Amino acid sequence: MNILFLLSLFLFPIFYLLIIRRRRLLLKRLPPGSLGIPVIGQSLGFLWAMRANTAEKWFAERAKRYGPISKMSLFGKPTVFIHGQAANKLVFSSDGSNMSNHQTESMKRILGDRSLVELSGEEHMRVRKALASFLKADSLKIYVGKMDEEIRLHLLMHWQGKQKVTVLPLMKTLTFNIICSLLFGVERGARRDSLIQYFQHIMAGVWSFPVNLPFTRFNRSLKASAEIQRILKQLISEKRIELENGASSHQDLITCLLSIRGEDDQELMSEDEIVQNVMLIMIGGYDTSSVLITFIIQILANDPNIHAAVLTEQEEIKKSKPSGELLKWEDLAKMKYTWRVAMEILRTIPPTFGGFRKALEDIEFEGYIIPKGWQIFWVTSMTHLDDTIFPEPSKFDPARFESPESIPPYCYIPFGGGARICPGYEFAKMETLATIHYLVTQFTWQLCCKDNGYQRHPLPEPNQGLPIEIIPKEVV
Ligand code: HEM
Repeated sequence: MNILFLLSLFLFPIFYLLIIRRRRLLLKRLPPGSLGIPVIGQSLGFLWAMRANTAEKWFAERAKRYGPISKMSLFGKPTVFIHGQAANKLVFSSDGSNMSNHQTESMKRILGDRSLVELSGEEHMRVRKALASFLKADSLKIYVGKMDEEIRLHLLMHWQGKQKVTVLPLMKTLTFNIICSLLFGVERGARRDSLIQYFQHIMAGVWSFPVNLPFTRFNRSLKASAEIQRILKQLISEKRIELENGASSHQDLITCLLSIRGEDDQELMSEDEIVQNVMLIMIGGYDTSSVLITFIIQILANDPNIHAAVLTEQEEIKKSKPSGELLKWEDLAKMKYTWRVAMEILRTIPPTFGGFRKALEDIEFEGYIIPKGWQIFWVTSMTHLDDTIFPEPSKFDPARFESPESIPPYCYIPFGGGARICPGYEFAKMETLATIHYLVTQFTWQLCCKDNGYQRHPLPEPNQGLPIEIIPKEVV
């Protein structure tokens, strides 16, 4: 006992000195910049820039001042902002051992801790593989017709017979209905209607301050999340019965997930995992795609040459099909120019501004140390607007993507990269192309106001939601 006591008396100062030494070394090698006022740091400046659509400029100024890595404090946490090809490589090539994914506290409390964005390592891979089994191109092929029907019905209900529409809210309605149909297998009706209301509350709360007080956005969001979980659990038990009675496992994402079995012939995902990931898919897939389609509609109104090229491509496809036939996977594969326009929108106005990771150990980058426990913030537009990678970056030019292999790795990242690259890429591509096909072949439109500005909330939203005047084309 005495020896242990003496030993600890001797060792304690050594450990203490080692900790002090490490701290001093760390302080010397911290990235440049300042953590600002305690707790607030640079959060207000950042949020203000997002609202005013000057966030790209805000970060570009920091980058000019400090270089590829700098420290700041965002949302009460010490943060390192990194950018450029090498920074993207550091984030996207990580196997998860040195950094973990990091979401807002509100998101974690609304969704729960079993969703893909909260999982890491083997658990992340298992759940991702299950979701990918439905979201990969090969599986999605059979759902093109179903998606087509949702789009036609949407245009009939919300566009035909109208002279003026506001694009963004309508595109949100459309992408919500597509997800409900293909992923949840929930038909139009009371259940779908209540889901849409609850999801709107959820979306409003994901970016709110996580203090659960009555009448706050966060409080409404938590209540909505509980309701959605109840509805989804009910849906899962109905689908289990359908599957037991011999229904196909390819009806929708939920039946697909219920049917995947592990080695012990048990369901591979727990009920909580299915519920939370279905909710995550809605959050990840609904706003992003609607924003992309909205900005394509804007560029088609602003640029007659791009409109003409998209229209020619889509008319060719229409002419090659018997009248009224649903779109097929092969038709989407022919929409190469239209997708290049979409890629250029994703470069210039990426729906996802950037993302957070958390350092799980001290990480060395560009001669500096990112200390264990700090947030890492990667920003999409810093490489998308770099003129050494994309010459004349502010010019809208879909031709940049004629040979995508010429773009250096880790430089075009609207869908992220590596182990966490967006699993909804093919789904987003499919709904964007099919929607643009019907819009350009059925309508012409012009903008009601010449204001091309947008704000980030945090996704980019055109001012006033993009009101347009529409004229239906003659049906041939
Ligand atoms: C234009 C449309 C979309 C864009 C720009 C987009 C972008 C992104 C980005 C940047 C990430 C983060 C990657 C990272 O942290 O490294 C992500 C993740 C994710 N996205 Fe998308 N997304 C889109 C559509 C969709 C759709 C349609 C779905 C579902 C059907 C979806 C589901 C997800 C999921 C589940 C994750 C989390 C992946 C993980 O943590 O492993 N996204 N997306």
